[in-house]
Amino acid sequence: MTAIEERARQTRLFPPGFVWGVATSSYQIEGAVDADGRGPSIWDAFSRVPGAVAAGESGDPACDHYHRWPEDVELMAGLGVGAYRLSVAWPRVFPDGDGRVNQRGLDFYRRLVDGLNERGITPFVTLYHWDLPQALEERGGWRVRETAEHFAEYAETVHGALDGVPYWITLNEPYCSSITGYAEGRHAPGAREGHGALAAAHHLLVGHGLAVARMRANARAGEQIGVTLNMSPAVPASPAAEDAAAARRMDLMVNRQFTEPLLGAAYPGDMAKVYGEISDFSFRRDGDLALISAPLDFLGVNYYYPIHAADAPYEQPDPALRSAFDIGVRTVAPDGPPVSGLGWRIEPRGLHDTLTGLAARYPGLPPVFITENGYGDAGELDDTGRVAYLRDHLAATAAAIGAGVDVRGYFCWSLLDNFEWARGYAARFGLVHVDYATQVRTPKASYHWYREAIAEQM
Ligand code: NOJ
Repeated sequence: MTAIEERARQTRLFPPGFVWGVATSSYQIEGAVDADGRGPSIWDAFSRVPGAVAAGESGDPACDHYHRWPEDVELMAGLGVGAYRLSVAWPRVFPDGDGRVNQRGLDFYRRLVDGLNERGITPFVTLYHWDLPQALEERGGWRVRETAEHFAEYAETVHGALDGVPYWITLNEPYCSSITGYAEGRHAPGAREGHGALAAAHHLLVGHGLAVARMRANARAGEQIGVTLNMSPAVPASPAAEDAAAARRMDLMVNRQFTEPLLGAAYPGDMAKVYGEISDFSFRRDGDLALISAPLDFLGVNYYYPIHAADAPYEQPDPALRSAFDIGVRTVAPDGPPVSGLGWRIEPRGLHDTLTGLAARYPGLPPVFITENGYGDAGELDDTGRVAYLRDHLAATAAAIGAGVDVRGYFCWSLLDNFEWARGYAARFGLVHVDYATQVRTPKASYHWYREAIAEQM
């Protein structure tokens, strides 16, 4: 099948009104970390820890989007996207985490949202894409329940200040904020804890629930509220029963720990077993699950790759000292499908299976937006690998829609090359190349391909 025929096939499969978008996040693109009264976030602090981020890099200056956003909105308009998923930096709005509101921080997002709407681009606003105010980390971070309450206050403040935002996303990937940040230690705040990480996961969900309630109480007509989860199918590395059990543990840690309370109003029954003696669950309170499972208008799904899981010994034999990331699983790279420029496995089928699996497991599943999907490499302008990745994952999305899943839109990660967290600037996901020395933006082959793909859907 030629590329044109393939695209024509997709044209028939995406429903009218399907949303085509691009996504970014505040800390990864804005730079200007001291501008207009912004306070420090946990990523400002973490990226100063020697060895935490590749090459000692940090989110300053990133893409200097804080100052160059009009140019970036023009790049979006040139793509023809109907929507842009951005995030608000909590420490721009509450430099101290709570208390005093920094109006100049809110004004930046006011200008950006207005600029988007003037260009006919619908803003999808994520409230928490990992940049917790450092002041709150110093008071316990997500380990403590107060942070969830501060989050709800922040969410209500931003929601109240920004009209013209029809779609709100409370959290981005609470798995990464909790397990990667407080158990694996690869992300800010860089902790390797058992109980603390599981409390963090729970408090993020409580924060989500509190924020949803506050925003619903003041919702403008038509506003939609959702949450974004990273989802990776966990595939047993072999037919052995031990590997099937390992895959199930991985599925719990990455996926079910979040989908079950949000969509099923219960924590998975095997949770205590998987996390063993490292944790008690005394941070849970009566009523939390009802709060967490309040109906969503949509679910955001970020998909990149499936995980192939094999049984393995625990890294830390003493359960009392074990991080919550240490669940007796080794991820393996079987022969076969290709990998991205970052070595990530490419399996579009995993996106299809994620979507159909969600619909099968949760009969009341709300409409789904793919809020992130994309390909990382070293930054080639003729990025044929990214084009193939996007084409094949769009085909997988179309197939899931054909199978009956209510998918309403797709956001490519990312508009721009940006600060890829612990990998720094070397890993690039953009449709647009950024020269960080000059801040010159150069559309890649994938930008032109995505523009044509979108145009053909309209
Ligand atoms: C998911 C995260 O939300 C985003 O911040 C990150 O850059 C991409 N994955 C790529 O790793």
